[in-house]
Amino acid sequence: MIFRQFFDDTSWTYSYLIADPLAKEAVIIDPVLERTDHYIRAIRELNLTLVYAIDTHIHADHITGSGQLKQATDCTTAIGSHAQVDCIDLKISEGLPIRFGKLQLSPIYTPGHTDDSYSFVMNDRVFTGDTLMIRSTGRTDFQNGDPGQQYDSIFKKLLTLPDHYLIYPAHDYNGWTVSSIGEEKAHNPRLKVRSRTEYIDQMNNLKLANPKLMDVAVPANRKCGMI
Ligand SMILES: [Fe+2]
Repeated sequence: MIFRQFFDDTSWTYSYLIADPLAKEAVIIDPVLERTDHYIRAIRELNLTLVYAIDTHIHADHITGSGQLKQATDCTTAIGSHAQVDCIDLKISEGLPIRFGKLQLSPIYTPGHTDDSYSFVMNDRVFTGDTLMIRSTGRTDFQNGDPGQQYDSIFKKLLTLPDHYLIYPAHDYNGWTVSSIGEEKAHNPRLKVRSRTEYIDQMNNLKLANPKLMDVAVPANRKCGMI
């Protein structure tokens, strides 16, 4: 498997390029508009064909590069079926794998950060978007976020994956790049709650400022970044 993690140091976003080395088919998860030239260069230099550009959810802190990647590579753009986006080619649903070469991503509906958040399991790893982050969890205070739903997504879905599964989030603000299910169970302070109610209270009291780009990014992402 070809696996690359890209970092956008403006929005602190991780994007992932994954490819089957034999079939040369690739997907990218959570591409950032300003970095599309970088991804296209990597795709060309690795002699890959981009088949899917996938967003884990409608982002509020950066504009997606999915539309621009489609224009450049003719890939299929994809996002969860709950997202209010008309420009997308494929609406993702739980239980319907995304196949490329001999690899596949299995979508899991993990609402809570937003109502359109999906995570994707592949082999020994899971791409958790802004649902489960490293030593943190995604905020739940806008875009139809819901801390109770997020608790269910994390505790009833993600944390039931094997402990050795690697976690690759959509963001990190502290220099972490990868974690594992077991590591987050043991050390993620947001998960140190005794009940769903306690988790909801915790998330409702974070008192975070809105993302700077929110008013620009959300409408732009509803147009696949083609603004
Ligand atoms: Fe987000």
